[in-house]
Amino acid sequence: MGKTIDQIKAEALKAVETASDPEGIKELSIRYLGRKGAVTQFLRNISDLPAKERPEAGKKANETKKILDSAFKEALERIQKPAGADDRIDVSLPGRSVQVGHLHPITRIAGEICGIFTDMGFDIVEGPEVELDYYNFESLNFPPDHPARDMQDTFFISDKVVLRTHTSPIQVRVMEKTDPPVRVIAPGKVYRCDSDLTHTPMFHQVEGLLVDENVSFGDLKGTLTAFVHQMFDEQTSLRFRPSFFPFTEPSAEVDILCVMCRGKGCRVCSQTGWLEVLGSGMVHPAVLENVGYDTTRYTGFAFGMGVERIAMLKYGIDDIRKFFENDFRFLKQF
Ligand code: DAH
Repeated sequence: MGKTIDQIKAEALKAVETASDPEGIKELSIRYLGRKGAVTQFLRNISDLPAKERPEAGKKANETKKILDSAFKEALERIQKPAGADDRIDVSLPGRSVQVGHLHPITRIAGEICGIFTDMGFDIVEGPEVELDYYNFESLNFPPDHPARDMQDTFFISDKVVLRTHTSPIQVRVMEKTDPPVRVIAPGKVYRCDSDLTHTPMFHQVEGLLVDENVSFGDLKGTLTAFVHQMFDEQTSLRFRPSFFPFTEPSAEVDILCVMCRGKGCRVCSQTGWLEVLGSGMVHPAVLENVGYDTTRYTGFAFGMGVERIAMLKYGIDDIRKFFENDFRFLKQF
């Protein structure tokens, strides 16, 4: 006779310990308890043993059968459901909250600016970011030697193609395709070779243009005053400061009363009490002529503002680069 029943039991229990999948356990069950299995064979061969050993061997073999049977069942359970699985789910713990996304602050402010103007009847238009020199400069009455064409500001794609440095070229593209009256607002990305606390090589502008009969500087002032009061608040007064842009005449820069100190003078407004927020003016007749408008009949005003600048003032942010670092701790605040 081969192995003793104790040897078979020890062997089987060792094997079941290392079994790692249900198939392996099924196999063991067949190998030991199946019709031709080791324990079954042992029982069958008991008659070969000396008569006095038979009762004891039979008893042991039957016990072994039971022990192995439950060992296999247990192992199967252990594999299908890892030990302590139940303990690892604490149903009383608060759930993990899902992070809800939201618009980037720049997108929000741009939308807010456009919203104020669409409420006044302006249409939203867009233009290409890769722009012809003609639209970015020439059609806007920039003399060929104007410093803004300098390599320092402009990213050139080629001699005649640039990354637009402002959203003003959209004015010309719109007027070329539309007869007056024109009343549009044009948001978009612009590019300048510049980088520090208040400048990034890419930033956003919103351009406005209105052309019709009898449009005056008073209309410009009224429109921008309404805008500033809605964007900031009714207490935010503004002033028009004479300035120069090739495509407007007369031109004015608009300052608002410092949102931090309300005119007293602080670090943000460099002790002046005022903050520059946008450029504006009456559209230069040369620009209107470039698009074939009758300058004896039509006049217009235009303005342009930096979205990041407005956002920085509105939210009290001192470093423009924060908008583009994608740090959730910063973005989550808006
Ligand atoms: N394009 C100007 C800039 O980027 C801003 C500007 C000034 C736009 C006056 C205008 C305007 O439409 O009339 O600095």
